[in-house]
Amino acid sequence: MKRDLVVVLDFGGQYNQLIARRVRECSVYCEVHPYTIDIEKLRAMNPKGIIFTGGPNSVYGEDSPQCPMEVYSMGVPVLGICYGAQLMAYQLGGKVETAPVSEYGKTEVTVDKNGKLFGNVQENIICWMSHTDYIAQPPEGFKVTASTPVCPVAAMEDADRGYYAVQFHPEVLHTQEGTKMLEAFVKDVCGCQGNWKMDSFVEETVRAIRERVGNGKVLCALSGGVDSSVAAVLLSKAVGKNLTCVFVDHGLLRKNEGDEVEAVFGPEGHYDLNFIRVNAQQRFYDKLAGVTEPERKRKIIGEEFIRVFEEKAKKIGAVDFLVQGTIYPDVIESGLGKSAVIKSHHNVGGLPDCVDFKEIIEPLRMLFKDEVRKAGLELGIPDYLVFRQPFPGPGLGIRIIGEVTEEKVKIVQDADFIYREEIAKAGLDRDINQYFAALTNMRSVGVMGDFRTYDYAVALRAVTTSDFMTAEAAQIPWDVLNKVTNRIVNEVKGVNRVFYDCTSKPPGTIEFE
Ligand code: XMP
Repeated sequence: MKRDLVVVLDFGGQYNQLIARRVRECSVYCEVHPYTIDIEKLRAMNPKGIIFTGGPNSVYGEDSPQCPMEVYSMGVPVLGICYGAQLMAYQLGGKVETAPVSEYGKTEVTVDKNGKLFGNVQENIICWMSHTDYIAQPPEGFKVTASTPVCPVAAMEDADRGYYAVQFHPEVLHTQEGTKMLEAFVKDVCGCQGNWKMDSFVEETVRAIRERVGNGKVLCALSGGVDSSVAAVLLSKAVGKNLTCVFVDHGLLRKNEGDEVEAVFGPEGHYDLNFIRVNAQQRFYDKLAGVTEPERKRKIIGEEFIRVFEEKAKKIGAVDFLVQGTIYPDVIESGLGKSAVIKSHHNVGGLPDCVDFKEIIEPLRMLFKDEVRKAGLELGIPDYLVFRQPFPGPGLGIRIIGEVTEEKVKIVQDADFIYREEIAKAGLDRDINQYFAALTNMRSVGVMGDFRTYDYAVALRAVTTSDFMTAEAAQIPWDVLNKVTNRIVNEVKGVNRVFYDCTSKPPGTIEFE
C-alpha cells in the first residue's frame, strides 16, 4: 500500500514530537528530521507536505538555523509554526522583528475563516503562543489570516504557492481545534488521504521482516512490557519458530507476572515461537543481599540481567538478528542531536555488546507509544498486556527501600496486588497513569487483636501524568484508599500501616528510588 508522508523539519522546538503525533492522529504518516537534512534525501522521500517546527532562536540572530531555499521550490506545501513561521516570512522577503509585546500562554486569536487552515474552526479561538519576535510584515503575495490585538500576523498564507504559517502552536492541546488546522493542512492543502492505519502497518512490517530475515535466526529479550511484547509478536508472525524469546524472571516482578508472561508467550500460549523462561530469582536475591544504596541496586540488577541473558544466548548459539523494542520517541530524542531526556535506566539497551548477532531489528522504531498499543491490539495481544502501566527494569528492587529480601518482595507483591485490584474495581485504572505499592523501610508499633505488632509500613503511590517527566499525585477517593488500607493490613502478613504519597514530581520522583 502506498502511504503519504509529511515531514516535520525540526528547528529545535520542544514540540517536535507533538506535531508528528497530531499529524498521525489524522491518519497521515509523519516523520521528524533535523532541518539540516540533505535536500536530495528529503526530495527522495517524496513528502506531500513539510512542516517547520518552532525553535528557541531569532531568525535574524547569528547562526540561527535556516532552511535551504530549495525546500520552498520543491512544489510541496510548507507550513511554518512559530519560529518556522518567522523563518518563512524572513526567507521569503517579509520582516521579522522583536515584538513590542511578547505573548506567552493562552491567547485569543481571531482567524479569517476563508484561510485554508481555518475553514472548520471558530472565528475566535484560544491558541497557545510563545514568542518574543513577530512577523511585522508578511512577504509579498501573502495574506494575513489570523491576528491578535498585539500580533498583527498570527497566521498568513500564500495559497497559490502553497505556503502557510502560524505564529501559535496548533499541536498543543491548549490551542482549541488545533488538530483541525493541522488536518486541514495535511488533507485539504497537501492532499494526503489519511490511510495510515495500524492494520496496514502490521501487514507491511510483517512482510518487510520476512523479506529481510529470510530463514535467519532471531533472538528477542522479552520483558512482558508493551514494547518488547509487540515487537516479539510481530517477529513471530513474520518468522515463526525462527524466533527465540528469552524472558528473564529476576524475582522482582509483580505478583503472578512471570506466569502471566509465560501463559501468553510460552508453549501453552497464543504464539508460534520458542519461549525460554529463565528463573533467576535466587541469583538476583543473592547479589542484592545486604545492599541498600539505590544506585548500587540498580547497577547490580542491570548487570546481572545482562549476564543471565548472555549465558542463555551463548547456549542458543550465534543468531543473525537481535530484536529491540526501540520506539520513536527514543529515536527522536537520541537522533536529532538535541539534549537527550533519556533516563539512565536499565533496559535492554545494554544488550547488543554481549550477544553474538549480525544485525538489529527494531520493528517499532517509527511508532509512538499509543501506536505501539494499537498495533498490539491489532496483533491480538491481550488488553492487560497492551495497556500495562510502565514498570521499571529493576522492578520491585527499587520499590523496596533498603535491602531487598525475598520476604520483602512477597510483602510488596501482595500489597501491590490488592491495590491494583481495588483501583480496577473502582474503575480508576485507565485514569491513573501509574500506581503501585512500595515498601518503606520503616517499622512501627501497632496493635492487632490483643497483640502488639512491630511491622512494616506500605506506601501507596498513584500519579497522573502525560509524559512521566512531571506528575501530580492522583486524587483517589477516600473510601477507595480506606478499603485498600484495610485489606492490606488484614491480608498481608508483616504490614501494620499504610501511607498515601501526596508528593508531586518534582520534587519527588514517581518511583521511590
Ligand atoms: P521516575 O521515578 O524517574 O520515573 O519519576 C519516571 C518513569 O520511568 C520509570 N522508571 C524506569 N523505567 N527502567 C525503566 O525502564 C528504570 O530503571 C526506571 N526507573 C523509573 C518509572 O516507572 C516511571 O514510569
